Amino acid sequence: MASTADFVWMDGKVVPWKEATVHVSAETVLRGANVFEGMRAYWNDEEKELYIFKNREHLRRLRQSTRIMRMSVPYSDDELTQAFIDVIRANRFTEGVHFRPVVYFGEGEAYAWKPEEIRTGVFVLAYARPHLASIATGVKSCVSTWRRNSDNATPSRVKAAANYHNSRFATVEAKMNGFGPPIMLNDRGEVAESPGACFMMVRDGRVITPPVTADILESITRQTLIDLYRDELGVEVIERDIDRTELYVADETFFCGSGAEVQPITAVDHYAVGDGKVGPLTKKMQDLYFEIAKGKVAKYRHWLTPVYGNQKPR
Ligand SMILES: Cc1ncc(COP(=O)(O)O)c(C=O)c1O
Repeated sequence: MASTADFVWMDGKVVPWKEATVHVSAETVLRGANVFEGMRAYWNDEEKELYIFKNREHLRRLRQSTRIMRMSVPYSDDELTQAFIDVIRANRFTEGVHFRPVVYFGEGEAYAWKPEEIRTGVFVLAYARPHLASIATGVKSCVSTWRRNSDNATPSRVKAAANYHNSRFATVEAKMNGFGPPIMLNDRGEVAESPGACFMMVRDGRVITPPVTADILESITRQTLIDLYRDELGVEVIERDIDRTELYVADETFFCGSGAEVQPITAVDHYAVGDGKVGPLTKKMQDLYFEIAKGKVAKYRHWLTPVYGNQKPR
């Protein structure tokens, strides 16, 4: 069963789940014409507060996606932030939340983009979502036979729902073959990312991750981890292309993303990664990431946006 919640924010207001609908003739339905963000809010039990992680960065990337798509968003960043807060408050969540603001083309002419020719709407879906169980155990991955969509076709830099058609092929294939999330190569045959997260590996004590020009989403978690490895753990991070066979000799490998968080990969194509257990630099980063996301590290409180403030849920 798909997850549900009591309320959705849609086109300017909070509405009951069942009333959050678009017409079947909308461009978002017929041609997948929408862009979105996948964001998390972390529950801090001592403070009875939910903290949105890196709100500003997600809004910036949403604007980047809408710019490339030539979409006119009818709301300011402050209004969108208030929408996130309103929908989470309405659902009275008191645990980790995953939410998805979506900017979509509604009813109008095929391939239209001008506001006078097509309606541009926004909705925000929010769900209670605990950590994936696999962040403790790790996942067994494989190299997909499907290539990541390329910048000159359907750019990964645009976080468009339609890109996840490519993700679907790769995910279904990997599942059918008994694997967790796969690693996708780009058109040039270098490592890109997974269907829904970025990729990092450790070799000889250094963290290596593909550059933002490798047909990947410009991931917020990826940049967060690069900064934290350098600034807090004193680990060198190198952004460069990764060959397929490097996956088979890496000491540690993991996925990172708002949804995936820091997800260890313990095997690739049946080669054990390191000793086949969650690696030490992966584990250290998981612990640090969650401490920061839950508001327990004063230095990084500015990465967080509180949801409840003085309106705490009872
Ligand atoms: C295809 C893809 N790559 C990478 C990521 C990671 O991006 P972020 O860290 O901004 O969530 C995501 C989403 O989580 C994604 O869907």
